[in-house]
Amino acid sequence: MNRIFSGVQPTGNLHLGNYLGAIRNWVTLQHDYECIFCIVDLHALTLPQDPAELRASTREVAAAYIAAGIDPERCIIFNQSMVSAHAELSWLLSCLTPLGWLNRMTQFKEKAGKHRDNAGLGLYAYPVLMAADILAYKATHVPVGEDQKQHLELARDIAGAFNRRYERDFFPLPEPQIFGTATRVMSLRDGARKMSKSDTSDYSRINMTDDSELIGLKIRRAKTDPEPLPDTIAALETRPEADNLVGIYAALAGESREAALARFAGQNFSTFKEALSALSVEVLGHIGGEMRRLLAETGHIDAILKRGAERAAAIAMPVLREVQDITGLLRP
Ligand code: AMP
Ligand code: TRP
Repeated sequence: MNRIFSGVQPTGNLHLGNYLGAIRNWVTLQHDYECIFCIVDLHALTLPQDPAELRASTREVAAAYIAAGIDPERCIIFNQSMVSAHAELSWLLSCLTPLGWLNRMTQFKEKAGKHRDNAGLGLYAYPVLMAADILAYKATHVPVGEDQKQHLELARDIAGAFNRRYERDFFPLPEPQIFGTATRVMSLRDGARKMSKSDTSDYSRINMTDDSELIGLKIRRAKTDPEPLPDTIAALETRPEADNLVGIYAALAGESREAALARFAGQNFSTFKEALSALSVEVLGHIGGEMRRLLAETGHIDAILKRGAERAAAIAMPVLREVQDITGLLRP
């Protein structure tokens, strides 16, 4: 059986990278797999969060899933903290995870910054919780953006460590699914940094809830170089900002980078940016509107999350019980 698990952190500012790198792909996958889409609120707590904002962001991610076209009947949508198996399995797995594996995680190094001693234990243990998320459902496939590749490799290693320690084929090794023309959407202000929820420059990202005016403004202000667009993809290699915008256009249009570039080769950025703006508004405008409509009445979203958590627990709790038995924990 093929089962998908994936998640997004409710840390505010859902952006075009989250949409193109993750959520949009899930919409297609829901027809071919059993899908579980989580809002990983426990992961959000690895950095300080305002309680009221955390609750609001949790609903906002749920609204984004639904507005983007994920069907809550077909798929399971829920927030992580509602199913205690995630935290419980995380502990059991952390006892099998060597520190050396965690020390390699580049995201921890980035997020912890220079003052590593001040970083929380939760931030360090974050990838183990992510492994628990996936393994609690024995998920076989995990569709994510490229930045999560290393965490997924670790989840595979942890699954393997458990299977070896207890000499059985218990956890399937989850396969990463990293696809699309925009697996790594970069900042609109700096082609060397990825578009991120936490970037302090508002002009660096297009948020899923931005209205058409703001989308237009951000694209007009996006950093570019003075040269017109080239006619080969290879010529974009040394022009990261231009390359990023072409990638975004291609992803939004559902075509290859080559096809997208062919439309604008030789043209200047003002023409290209106008087309990119119109296309972004066409795709995101509808989703943003639907998100606002869903968020105006939170009862509906809360009911979906509650039902999702019940369905999720029905899968994860029995897996956790089995792990407890295998591990030797007494359950009288
Ligand atoms: P996060 O915002 O870290 O919770 O990420 C949620 C999902 O969006 C994960 O699958 C990420 O890989 C994906 N994602 C986040 N930022 C980007 C980006 N700039 N480009 C492509 N995918 C992204
Ligand atoms: N760490 C992921 C991110 O920041 C979110 C996440 C948590 C996740 N648990 C997961 C993604 C399990 C896929 C599967 O993007």
